[in-house]
Amino acid sequence: MDQNTGIKVLEPDLADYYQLSADILDERILRVKTKLADRLLLLGHNYQRDEVYKFADYTGDSLKLSQFAAEQTEREYIIFCGVKFMAETADILTTPEQKVILPDLAAGCSMADMADIETVETAWEEIARLIPEGTITPITYINSSADLKAFCGERGGLVCTSTNAEKIIRWAFERREKILFFPDQHLGRNTCKRMGIPLDEMILWDPTKPNGGNSPEAVRSARVFLWQGFCSVHQMFQTQHVDYFRKQYPDIKVIVHPECSMEVADQSDMMGSTEYIIRTVTSAPAGTRWAVGTELNLVNRLKRDNPDKEVFFLSPMVCMCSTMFRIDAPHLLWSLEQIEAGTPVNQIIVPEQDRHWAKVALERMLELA
Ligand code: 13P
Ligand code: SF4
Repeated sequence: MDQNTGIKVLEPDLADYYQLSADILDERILRVKTKLADRLLLLGHNYQRDEVYKFADYTGDSLKLSQFAAEQTEREYIIFCGVKFMAETADILTTPEQKVILPDLAAGCSMADMADIETVETAWEEIARLIPEGTITPITYINSSADLKAFCGERGGLVCTSTNAEKIIRWAFERREKILFFPDQHLGRNTCKRMGIPLDEMILWDPTKPNGGNSPEAVRSARVFLWQGFCSVHQMFQTQHVDYFRKQYPDIKVIVHPECSMEVADQSDMMGSTEYIIRTVTSAPAGTRWAVGTELNLVNRLKRDNPDKEVFFLSPMVCMCSTMFRIDAPHLLWSLEQIEAGTPVNQIIVPEQDRHWAKVALERMLELA
């Protein structure tokens, strides 16, 4: 049983699919895709492997893909090549007739799992005991489960992505004095810092400790409460990697995702979403050099698609998102053939009790975006 959706999870036996050569997998994927044509929409996040990315009708970052999902009201099936919070978002934003499929249900996000509804509710109550009523807005990064999006929607808060975090935080501060930002401390800190909010007005909230590990005075005076979550992939980029490339190539530009630590973000030349990174490097003049701090599949593709530039991966370690990597050609073909057979699998269905407020939180963001 899947814990979030309550749906029975069919454990696939994909052994036969793994026997197929890459050519046969491609041929069969293309055949079903062509057959299903307008009934199907295939979305691919920028971190997906090439073997599935190349079949996507639309590719992009979390914001762009959620916008596509919201616009495509005619497609009966949406296969989401990405991770679970993205498929949940698509399910919330599509019509009840549309079915969102995640080819591998184990494709989650370890950062999203660092905040859950019980601990966020506890934190909210602890904070509420110490500050005046109606002075704080909850903001969840889109990398979170649907019930946390609903939590924000119901309390006047909203969702943000790496593209629009600044706009969303600004919107929140126009209404109330404080924000609770979860689950990614780094996106929250990097964005607030660039907006000019001093670090001593931000506190880190450790959900395992009373008051998040803060004194009552610190809670009362803080403007920004940062949940202690992080993306382990982006923590692999370190300042010594930036130093190495700067020493080696004084003209190099360093571009990173805002899930990187503040120290790395501060030393970079540019910071933005996966889509921003792709757009910036792709439109840069020939002959320029780039060190890129985000997931490996994206950077390898960027290297290949920009032979007129020198593109380097910022870390000497292999920083790959292992859950994004789970969606491979055998899983994609399996989910397509199950649709063709009339027995679709791995449908993501957000529970009814979370749908309404999660949609409110997402729509507040989409209106601003
Ligand atoms: P983007 O929205 O920038 O694509 O980021 C999603 C993500 O999970 C990055 O780790
Ligand atoms: Fe989650 Fe990090 Fe993977 Fe993005 S790269 S999906 S934040 S684990």
